[in-house]
Amino acid sequence: LIGSESLIERLNHVAIAVPDLTAAVTFYRDVLGAEVSAPLDLPEHGVTTVFVKLANTNLELLASLGDGSPISKFIEKNPGGGLHHLCFEVPDLFQAIDKVSQEKIRVLGEAKTGAHGVPVVFMHPKDTFGCLIELEEGKS
Ligand code: CO
Repeated sequence: LIGSESLIERLNHVAIAVPDLTAAVTFYRDVLGAEVSAPLDLPEHGVTTVFVKLANTNLELLASLGDGSPISKFIEKNPGGGLHHLCFEVPDLFQAIDKVSQEKIRVLGEAKTGAHGVPVVFMHPKDTFGCLIELEEGKS
């Protein structure tokens, strides 16, 4: 019955903002030996992403793309990189947005298509105990 009552299901990924995507890929692929995807530019989000596939979840390496990228600001504050967000899978994103909004949890902007080609939304970290949380529809 796991998931039947819970708004959130699996941990889809843990995202890490990095100042140098090539160096981060080298670390995960060549030093740690993990399976690493090709870089994917997401101009709508101002990021380039690389996924590191693990047995039970994934890592999302995020580098800034273009002017005004949210990652540029993050890297200014955290020059070496750092934990950026967690992503949970939800069966129905719009239902999840309704539910959290009723509880006065702020969502950041509109749902947008994310790195997996499905809708995603972020919740305000000040409403989620200091951790930026992404909700992604469906399973991937
Ligand atoms: Co993400």
